[in-house]
Amino acid sequence: MPNSSLLLEIRNLHVGFRIFEGHLRVLAGVALVVNEGERVGLVGETGCGKTTTVKSVLRVLPIPPARVAGGEILYRGRDVLRMHRHALHVLRRQELTAIFQDPLQSLNPVFTVGSQLRDIVRDSMRTPEGRALSRREIEARCIQALEETGMPDPDRIMSNYPIQLSGGMRQRVCIAEALSTTARLLLADEPTTNLDVTIQDQILRKLDRLVDQKGSSVLMITHSMGVVRDLTQRIYIMYAGSIVETGPTRQLLASPKHPYTQGLMASVPRLTGRGVSEGIPGRIPNYLEPPPGCRFHPRCPHRMPECSVEAPPMFDVGADQRAACYLYRRSSS
Ligand SMILES: Nc1ncnc2c1ncn2[C@@H]1O[C@H](COP(=O)(O)OP(=O)(O)OP(=O)(O)O)[C@@H](O)[C@H]1O
Ligand code: SF4
Ligand SMILES: [Mg+2]
Repeated sequence: MPNSSLLLEIRNLHVGFRIFEGHLRVLAGVALVVNEGERVGLVGETGCGKTTTVKSVLRVLPIPPARVAGGEILYRGRDVLRMHRHALHVLRRQELTAIFQDPLQSLNPVFTVGSQLRDIVRDSMRTPEGRALSRREIEARCIQALEETGMPDPDRIMSNYPIQLSGGMRQRVCIAEALSTTARLLLADEPTTNLDVTIQDQILRKLDRLVDQKGSSVLMITHSMGVVRDLTQRIYIMYAGSIVETGPTRQLLASPKHPYTQGLMASVPRLTGRGVSEGIPGRIPNYLEPPPGCRFHPRCPHRMPECSVEAPPMFDVGADQRAACYLYRRSSS
């Protein structure tokens, strides 16, 4: 029976990239769920496939070199991977909104900031009485949305093209768009990386309040454990192209069970830069020839002979907490 609270469900997603040297097998059976009104975090060290996952949901991966080798991405029960162009357009226009690490990904280079923002406000906002906004109201709402992101001189920015803006300004435009839509699901991929540290927290909290007011859902990718702890209810830990652990955020952070998550916790607060090397020796594997079985086995202090034979399924490790690790085989129900 379909679960009415299920908004997004990614099932067994496999995505690779064809490069000169061969085939990168990046996503290896990603599975995750976002329910209606839920805030979900996706965490993992650099290169583990978080952006590839989000781009797969939006169907914005460049094909080629990317290739979706298998799996399903169900949005309210419909497979995004099999949607036709029109349905996909409606989905991106009305249901999903994304803030990318690299904002040039989601801004159209041939239209001014104002023209893109006005379209979104016109399509998604109504007065309290339910009528469409007038041109003047649309303009005022666009300026206000830009101001809310701390954008300097929003009037002038409205007539600029994305290429004329700095990375931080472009990210602010994407955030202003996200603040203006009525989308049900916000895909936030490191939404504040290009902003000053002083404003990052403020913007994240603003996004969070807005999402709360609208009852929308969020899939939040971040390197900051503080952000996931404060702003998400459930968390997925990703390693080398698959989900290795999931559970209620605070519970999982307080009691991580997968050896990778345990290493990750030892390398907080930031996972950027030197990665998790302080917590776990070694690096993320080469996707041209990923290790067989559990992809974490070359780095795992607890590896056993079977770990390099077959990838472990998820085992129950606590209330609503699951880990893909053979150490927990007996505790599975
Ligand atoms: N267009 C592409 N062509 C070839 N390889 C790619 C492409 N896009 C991503 N990859 C590879 O896929 C892997 C995962 O990349 P992805 O951007 O999804 O990681 P990430 O988890 O988002 O990392 P970060 O935290 O640094 O943003 C990397 O090894 C990357 O080099
Ligand atoms: S399955 Fe084996 S190698 Fe993988 S994390 Fe668990 S113990 Fe380590
Ligand atoms: Mg990324």
